[in-house]
Amino acid sequence: MRNLPQILIDDFHVLGKNMPDAIALEVNGKKYSVHYPADTPLLYVLRDDLGLTGTKYGCGEGQCGACTVLISGAPRRSCQISVSSIAGRSITTIEGLEKDGHLHPVQQAFLDAGAFQCAYCTSGMIMSSVGLLRTKPKPTAAEIMQFLQGNICRCGTHPRILEAVNNAAQALREQNP
Ligand code: FES
Repeated sequence: MRNLPQILIDDFHVLGKNMPDAIALEVNGKKYSVHYPADTPLLYVLRDDLGLTGTKYGCGEGQCGACTVLISGAPRRSCQISVSSIAGRSITTIEGLEKDGHLHPVQQAFLDAGAFQCAYCTSGMIMSSVGLLRTKPKPTAAEIMQFLQGNICRCGTHPRILEAVNNAAQALREQNP
């Protein structure tokens, strides 16, 4: 029962339901076993159970991009994905980008460009940008804007976000010529 929020434990006791089956997850290279109803959004499990609160809850409806994580390397809205549907697949959150004490080049570029104000959208922006640069190492400004359209920044930091993604693309190309 350790991985189940108290409210769900109470619910299962009151209704006499069985514990949900264990679901195996691989997050940031670590393996976890969690017990949640199959349709629970991945976002809730990441934040409430695994303590990975860098992934943000914005709209909860797939519209803002704040909850973006990588599933097998592709950016996905974790509020719209059931935890059971990604069992066994590789999940990366913002906490998993840093390696050996070094920020990922996209994280570093956002920091260097000051590409945030309130920063609520930043994790999602960075995860989407990492996904973009994996498939398109030299995107045009128009392609970056198009790709990040689903990530909302209410502060209007878009020019600096664009600069950061451009700089990150260049840094990644220099790392992997
Ligand atoms: Fe998932 Fe807004 S919280 S898209």
